[in-house]
Amino acid sequence: MSWNASRNTAPRWNTLAFRLTAGYALAGLGLVILATASLYLVLLSELEKSTDLFLADKLNVVRTLLRERPNDWEGLREEIQLESAARRYEQFYIRLLDEHNTPLLTTPGMAEQVDLSRLARQTERRPAHPFPMKGTHGQSFWVTSAAAEVGSPSTRTDIIEIAIDISLREALLARYRRWFLAILLGCFAIFPLIGYQVARHGIRPVQEIATTAQHTSSTNLHERILPEGYPFELASLADTFNKMLDRLEESFDRISRFSADIAHDLRTPVNNIRGEAEVALVRARTVDEYRDVLESCLEETVRLSDLISDLLFLARAESPLTHVHRERVNVAELLDAVRDYYEASAEDGGISLTTAAGTEPVVAELDRTLVQRAVGNLVSNAVAHTPSGGSIVLGTGAEASTIRIEVSDNGEGIPPDALPRVFDRFYRVDTSRSQASGGTGLGLAIVQSIMLLHGGKVEIASHVGKGTRVTLRIPVSGSR
Ligand SMILES: Nc1ncnc2c1ncn2[C@@H]1O[C@H](COP(=O)(O)OP(=O)(O)O)[C@@H](O)[C@H]1O
Ligand SMILES: [Mg+2]
Repeated sequence: MSWNASRNTAPRWNTLAFRLTAGYALAGLGLVILATASLYLVLLSELEKSTDLFLADKLNVVRTLLRERPNDWEGLREEIQLESAARRYEQFYIRLLDEHNTPLLTTPGMAEQVDLSRLARQTERRPAHPFPMKGTHGQSFWVTSAAAEVGSPSTRTDIIEIAIDISLREALLARYRRWFLAILLGCFAIFPLIGYQVARHGIRPVQEIATTAQHTSSTNLHERILPEGYPFELASLADTFNKMLDRLEESFDRISRFSADIAHDLRTPVNNIRGEAEVALVRARTVDEYRDVLESCLEETVRLSDLISDLLFLARAESPLTHVHRERVNVAELLDAVRDYYEASAEDGGISLTTAAGTEPVVAELDRTLVQRAVGNLVSNAVAHTPSGGSIVLGTGAEASTIRIEVSDNGEGIPPDALPRVFDRFYRVDTSRSQASGGTGLGLAIVQSIMLLHGGKVEIASHVGKGTRVTLRIPVSGSR
């Protein structure tokens, strides 16, 4: 219905249905006009040609008679008076005049049909050229005249005039013209109707797609177009549209899951703080007890503010306005700095944390703070998921136009079904354990967005019980 509303606002001539209909009707009418007109012209010229041939033939007969048998008066009379008068259809009349325009022989009845003096005037003006002329009763005649030598060698020159009644031919042509007009009018009425039906049928899928698009909102993202019976192009349009809805639906799902996760993760520390404060306030406490409560609240607040700053970081990293501040960074030194930072906590867990032996000095244009944060997140994960006695190794190297940073551990590893999801925000393989280890589930998501900011990518390979290796690949111009 909303489609109708918008269609009504568009001018009629600007609709696709109208344009298709108009185009189809115009092309159809043009073709019909062309076909009927050319048929008519062919018919006309064939009829004219046959009349001309007939006249030329008659002229020839009379001329031959005059030239070869000038004294065969009977033959001439038969040809001019009898044969022509005997015809019932397409009657023709012949008149033979001498040099002084005195009639010698005339087909009987000719004077009643044709104005003879006008005929004489006109044939004089256009000798040997057939032309049309009106008869005395309004009939149409086709007239020609020619000079004819009498005898050979010739003794004088006579004039032959022939007029043939072409009224029947004219009537036939008039009937044809009426028919053609009727056909044209019929086409004129029917073509737009057919065109409109065809166009409407053709654009029905477009209307359906538009309708779906119009009432698509976040609440009915699951609706799809059923491209049954659609022509190929529109089926692929519908398919593209459906795929767009798939992606939108997935993003929407992710975003709503994300908000639910945020709410949940914010609520936990806030609830903890509230609970502790409430319990502490039930009765008077000693200074030490208050200190314990405050310390625990502080811990929760630190968690909260870490979580909020992680979220803020991710939100900013997504903004297209975010820039990386590249500077020349010695990657091996950067890894050393990260190692130094995590050394104490690794030692506490009985884990050895080293940079790979023989790591070459790799220098590249990077955002130092961001890359340090990414590597830090990886090392913190490795420390959290490697049991005592395990080891973590940081390594780097340069290939063609990318640099590679690797963090490997021989810790617990990640199950294959969880592996594709570890970069999702708030995703944790083992929720209860990770909560204890203080993770927010945003660490790898942050690593991934730092790589995206650098135009690089992150790969993870892991085997349960054997360990995990995360590789960062960053394209650089002028590494080393
Ligand atoms: N080196 C690793 N070894 C085993 N599991 C890992 C490792 N790194 C990441 N993971 C798994 O991936 C999940 C997501 O990591 P991350 O995004 O950093 O979240 P967090 O560390 O806050 O839980 C972790 O919860 C953990 O289960
Ligand atoms: Mg982490």
